[in-house]
Amino acid sequence: AAAPAAAATSAGGSLRQQLAAAFQMAIDTAFPAMAGEPAIVVACNQPKFGDYQCNNAMALHGKMKGKPDAPKAPRMVAEAILAQLPDTGMVSETSLAGPGFINIRLSKDFLADRLTNMLREGISSWAPRGFAGKRVIVDFSSPNVAKEMHVGHLRSTIIGDTIARALEFCGADVLRLNHIGDWGTQFGMLIQYMAEKRPGGLNAATDEDVADLQLLYRAAKARFDDEEEFKARAREAVTLLQGGNPEYQQAWQRICDASRREFQKIYNRLGVTLTERGESFYNPMLKPVVDDLMERGVAEESEGAKCVFVEGAQIPLIVQKSDGGFGYASTDMAAVKHRIHEEKADWIIYVTDMGQATHFDLVFAGAKKAGYFPEGRTVRIDHVGFGLVLGDDGKKFRSRSGDVVRLVELLDEAKSRIVTTVKERRPDASEEEIEEASMAMGYGAVKYADLKNHRTTNYKFSYDDMLSMNGNTAVYQLYAHARITSIVRKSGRDMDELVQTARVRLGHEKEVALALHIARFSEAVEDMLDDLLPHRITEYLYDLSTVFNQFYTECQVVGSPEEESRLLLCEATARTMRACFHLLGIHVPKCR
Ligand code: ARG
Repeated sequence: AAAPAAAATSAGGSLRQQLAAAFQMAIDTAFPAMAGEPAIVVACNQPKFGDYQCNNAMALHGKMKGKPDAPKAPRMVAEAILAQLPDTGMVSETSLAGPGFINIRLSKDFLADRLTNMLREGISSWAPRGFAGKRVIVDFSSPNVAKEMHVGHLRSTIIGDTIARALEFCGADVLRLNHIGDWGTQFGMLIQYMAEKRPGGLNAATDEDVADLQLLYRAAKARFDDEEEFKARAREAVTLLQGGNPEYQQAWQRICDASRREFQKIYNRLGVTLTERGESFYNPMLKPVVDDLMERGVAEESEGAKCVFVEGAQIPLIVQKSDGGFGYASTDMAAVKHRIHEEKADWIIYVTDMGQATHFDLVFAGAKKAGYFPEGRTVRIDHVGFGLVLGDDGKKFRSRSGDVVRLVELLDEAKSRIVTTVKERRPDASEEEIEEASMAMGYGAVKYADLKNHRTTNYKFSYDDMLSMNGNTAVYQLYAHARITSIVRKSGRDMDELVQTARVRLGHEKEVALALHIARFSEAVEDMLDDLLPHRITEYLYDLSTVFNQFYTECQVVGSPEEESRLLLCEATARTMRACFHLLGIHVPKCR
């Protein structure tokens, strides 16, 4: 069995995936009747007994009970599995515990080789398997034109970017879609307001009227709410706009362009890329989609509206309102269809606040009822909901004046608050270096503070907390990384050469613990993608710093007989930290 096992376990993937592949073979060989029963391998919950454990024996015993030749006890099942475990070189020791848990200790040589190879081949060789080539759409950020982009959109941008980065790291073909709200009745109101304010005509010369879209929106809305006649004219404006009136179309374009410029300021600061495909993109598909749903009886008329009723839901999905208009849900139905059938998505991920959970549940159920999910191909669809950002007072985050927080100002505030620290740490740094480092730490701090929480919980926004040098912050992590790279630099050794010529060797207990944690990087990525929880990565990174500190306290690096191997361990730690920063969208500044 040794040859196929080697093939199955050398093709990349996490330690857990590789061990699972070996145990899969063992199970299939030991119990052919149970072949296909997936191997369950997880990190050992008691590190003193092992690094991993295989938990299949109990369930297998249950399933085989009563059959001829069935093993009498789960422990016998475990023994039979172990007897067939192929020799992959990964395992140094196994033991049975409790009713039939198999504890697995990894071989030190195997771990050492794994790190040596990663240093030579790059950390992408550790990308979890199973994602390469998958077409994934991540719908995130998605602010609304002419309305404020608020902290909720900031969260969506940060979380969505991290998820997209993790998928890209694993070789997925990711389409990052910005589903901006660029269509709808608010444009009639805005354009009508502009038209009546501008004696020179709707699109006369300057961009003054769209320069501050929030002001424009507020003024137009006030008038819309107060004046019945204006309301009526605004409705006509919508009809004109949707009917393709060139003047109105041009005004709409100008409003969208102005919004786009504002959004782009945020994306530039955060280093986030997105493909804009707003609601207007789906506009031509809405009527055909609704007609089709009606014809096939998926949708039905109810109180004048066209609705899809899905089982178990309190409210229907309204695909066309009673006044004939199409709304948010209509667009999302058309978008699901387009994404599955035109974009050929294998996985669609939506990142919005949790308040939209019901909406997405309805859309997903509606899409299922409509038969949008293909027969022979599995399409996964997820709503990634997140909690609120709160102010110090525990209420919804607002600016001092009580207004919505301007995101550009929020980001720049974080950056300017860290400048002093950067200057103190590096009095000799140039202006440019200080600029780079404060951007990295300031913007990084905002991202990290957001990502480190379980995404569904609300969290308090605090500059002091997120910019702290101690504790689980981006600033702490970036300094920890800088310290490790300086150990390597100050050793005076040529690291590129060392990587090619020397090997990691593991002796000291803290060396082994560090190597094991580094090697578990892939599992952190895997876990993060499993339930789309970015804090799995920040937690992993925080533990990595801790495990490294324990190693560095007990193991002398430079000047010790183990210098070469230990420098490689430092280098492997630094690289793994950088891989985490990359996934979190945190830039690592050159300034140390
Ligand atoms: N524009 C929406 C909002 O601000 C978010 C859009 C999310 N994506 C979607 N396909 N519905 O709440």
